[in-house]
Amino acid sequence: MKKFSKDTDIVHGIHTTYSTSMDLVPPLHLTSTFKFKNAEHGAEIFAGTTEGYAYTRVANPTVDLLQEKIAKIEGAEDAIATSSGMSAVASVSLALLKPGDNFISCSTVYGGTFVLFSKHLKDLHIEARFISPGDYASAQQIEAAIDGKTRFLYAETPANPTLDVIDIALWASVAKKHHLPLVVDNTFASPYLQNPISIGADIVLHSATKYLGGHGDIIGGVIAGSKKMMSHIKEEYVRHYGPIMSPFNAWLVLRGVKTLAVRMEKHSDSALTIAQWLEAHPKVAKVFYPGLPSHAGYAIAKKQMKKFGGMIAFEVKGGTDAGKKVMNHVELCILAVSLGDCESLIQHPASMTHAAYSPEERKKAGISDGLIRLSVGLEHPDDIIADLENALTFA
Ligand SMILES: Cc1ncc(COP(=O)(O)O)c(C=O)c1O
Repeated sequence: MKKFSKDTDIVHGIHTTYSTSMDLVPPLHLTSTFKFKNAEHGAEIFAGTTEGYAYTRVANPTVDLLQEKIAKIEGAEDAIATSSGMSAVASVSLALLKPGDNFISCSTVYGGTFVLFSKHLKDLHIEARFISPGDYASAQQIEAAIDGKTRFLYAETPANPTLDVIDIALWASVAKKHHLPLVVDNTFASPYLQNPISIGADIVLHSATKYLGGHGDIIGGVIAGSKKMMSHIKEEYVRHYGPIMSPFNAWLVLRGVKTLAVRMEKHSDSALTIAQWLEAHPKVAKVFYPGLPSHAGYAIAKKQMKKFGGMIAFEVKGGTDAGKKVMNHVELCILAVSLGDCESLIQHPASMTHAAYSPEERKKAGISDGLIRLSVGLEHPDDIIADLENALTFA
């Protein structure tokens, strides 16, 4: 098949030959079950000797198209669509781990991931061994945490909410040396800006709720990797625990993904402009954005990302109280969690997305109480800056 650029694959990138009506947009297969021609046909589909669909929890044509698209734009052999980003994280974890096992994770991760790793998996006698931000670049420190019961390495980069950047090639080389898979949460970058598999990762996952969906109207997740790993995760976990993506959500994500390239270009360009402006503002104490040379991960981000993404974190002089005043006085930016939408969203990690970390755990992960997280939307950057300028006068 002819090879196209990623921008073109983002728009096309799927086979829709099953459609006899020649629709431009593939139809939505909103059905829980599928008819068999006769008993033998049904038995053959179940046995896998004939191609076809039996039941949407196992496979659905609309969900299959999304899986094909994600695999294509992540440079993976196969993909799985799930009901949420959290069910993507949980499916990978539970398919790869058994009681008594451990795994290595960076300590700055989405708050829900942290609770799953540090509480729910712990209840199953599975240990998350967290690496602190100061050691993300130390192969020695990561290796020191690995033993015979370690099953995978997990990196979220750029990390939520501090935008810490992990050197995927470095973590992949440690993982390979110990014959372990490296799992990367690529939600903040999106497949347009970063393809971890091309740098040595084995499994990539996303909250599709964010940039992949892009319009704030669905909850979903995706996992991508080799055919062997994807069929293991699907058969060991997703099929029987059941956290599948609904066909309707898959259809919406397919629609959202088509504009991923143009959206990520705009999110990234606006975020860089806003981060530079914030850094020069007298009331702002610190800005965390991988596209700023002052950011500790700038060089690595430049190496492994196409642009630096739409997420910014910053601290206002005067700490938490001053930060809350800013959040309470924005008018264009919307005070809400989530990210990657057309609208700019602002939130307070310590009391919202990362409230489940204890104050000590937050400190270890580098998440200060005064930190504000901004998901830069698709509005004109001058309007976002004017909104922040006005809100900062109250700080
Ligand atoms: C980096 C990251 N991973 C995973 C998740 C979980 O995704 P979802 O909310 O779709 O379950 C989130 C949610 O904010 C996230 O930011």
